[in-house]
Amino acid sequence: MTLYLRLATEADLERIMQLENQSFPTDAWPEESMRFELNGPHTRYFVAFDAPDEQNLIGYAGLAKLQGNPQADIQTIAIAQTARGKGHGKKLMERLITEAIHQGAEEIFLEVRADNPVAQNLYLGLGFEHIDTRKRYYQPADIDAWVMRLRLEKQNTKQPLVLGIESSCDETGIGIVRGNTLLANVISSSMDLHARFGGVVPEIAARAHLEALQPTLEKALKEAQIDLSELDAIAVTNGPGLAGALMVGVGAAKALAVATGKPLYAVNHLVGHVGVDVLERGEVITPTIALLVSGGHTSLLKVNDLLDDVELLGETIDDAAGEAFDKVARLLDLGYPGGPKIDEQAAKGDPKAIRFPRGLTLPKDMEKHRYDFSFSGLKTAVARWVEVKEAANEPYSIPDVAASFREAVVDVLVTKAVNACKDHGIPRLLLGGGVVANARLRELAKEQCEANGIELRIPAFSLCTDNGAMIAALGAQLVMAGRKPSNLDFGANSTLPVTTVQTP
Ligand code: KG4
Ligand code: ZN
Repeated sequence: MTLYLRLATEADLERIMQLENQSFPTDAWPEESMRFELNGPHTRYFVAFDAPDEQNLIGYAGLAKLQGNPQADIQTIAIAQTARGKGHGKKLMERLITEAIHQGAEEIFLEVRADNPVAQNLYLGLGFEHIDTRKRYYQPADIDAWVMRLRLEKQNTKQPLVLGIESSCDETGIGIVRGNTLLANVISSSMDLHARFGGVVPEIAARAHLEALQPTLEKALKEAQIDLSELDAIAVTNGPGLAGALMVGVGAAKALAVATGKPLYAVNHLVGHVGVDVLERGEVITPTIALLVSGGHTSLLKVNDLLDDVELLGETIDDAAGEAFDKVARLLDLGYPGGPKIDEQAAKGDPKAIRFPRGLTLPKDMEKHRYDFSFSGLKTAVARWVEVKEAANEPYSIPDVAASFREAVVDVLVTKAVNACKDHGIPRLLLGGGVVANARLRELAKEQCEANGIELRIPAFSLCTDNGAMIAALGAQLVMAGRKPSNLDFGANSTLPVTTVQTP
């Protein structure tokens, strides 16, 4: 089960205290101490959730480290009773260990109750040793504490620190990773500026990137608590995407690389959507089929190897899936971006009310376009249907139109993706792109994958939409594989093929 981890803030205090009181009924910290810990200059706390909606806090943990001191301390770790035994404690601990490495620690210390063998075994499994016992440390119960220590191997500290820059569409994204660990993911979107046009206007997006880059970069550096000089490499999206938008990111990345003397990796945006999975499970298990659906792309990929062998099985021959949502929402006067608005209306409608066409699914189309998509006919069919109703002055249900339209899009997306898994004997499907937020897409993909024995991976939503963390993550994979940086003469390539993972 995936664990969704992020840095804790004071806004999490109330929920943390609930879990603190449940977990440590006799010796819970007072709320004021916890508030101090969350805000402290030398402490970093993380919260863990079982789903990206953050409804259920299932754990938290904190680390303290003074600057210049090679020792770090685990302050506390708690996992909700109902979420135990699933490996979540280990994941939270691993995050703290990465954080300690990141802050330059050489040793990590912790105390654990002598009567808690489950926790002790977890720490032993992570490489901690029992080095001392403090008598009657836990009061009022008079329980001894084991002092445990983890010596951090030098090689652990070799995980590269990589900054990623993404500017292929309307999101300016800056991400920072250490190896496979996410340290910062800051996004500035120009979506609001495009709202009155009902779709992304390339020239406006490019200007917005130019303005957003510097503040977004500064915010990310601050969040990761690093300085540019500490970076091991910089990665940037050089395609595919909007040419003018890409150029801003590429220009900024080259300037940063030249100014800091750091190696630069030009990477493929689409492969970045796939590579992001390393941030959640430590690797991308290949081969895998990947379905990438956003306002800019609709691509079905066969990823045999993340860095060396990515194939395009099919893509849209006209509108992207997200674009179809945006256009139909506009036609129904629902606003922009259309996806969430359609989703909202569709929840109240009947998906079977109107049978809209499923693009490129007829037998004759399936011969040539088995894995390709087409949404423009569907959009026209919705427009005609509404026109006819309006011309006849007949009332109709917007929720029914939205639900029927959504069903048509999602049905084709999921059917073709599942077909690709079955045809190629690959029992794995990874989703990416902003349309992954669609409630029906998630539901049908889950249903169909379960029915066909396919493992479905859906990264956290903040990693599905365009972001810099996925670019940093792919860059870090290239660095760790010993790949050479790109030559600084590469350009922005709006039609970069997915087979070019890195532009040499
Ligand atoms: O990945 P993304 O943020 O980047 C761009 O392509 O710019 O995707 C945005 C797209 C928009 O077209 C939006 O309408 C669509 O994702 N989208 C959705 C939903 N939420 C966002 N489409 C369908 N259902 C949703 N709930
Ligand atoms: Zn994208």
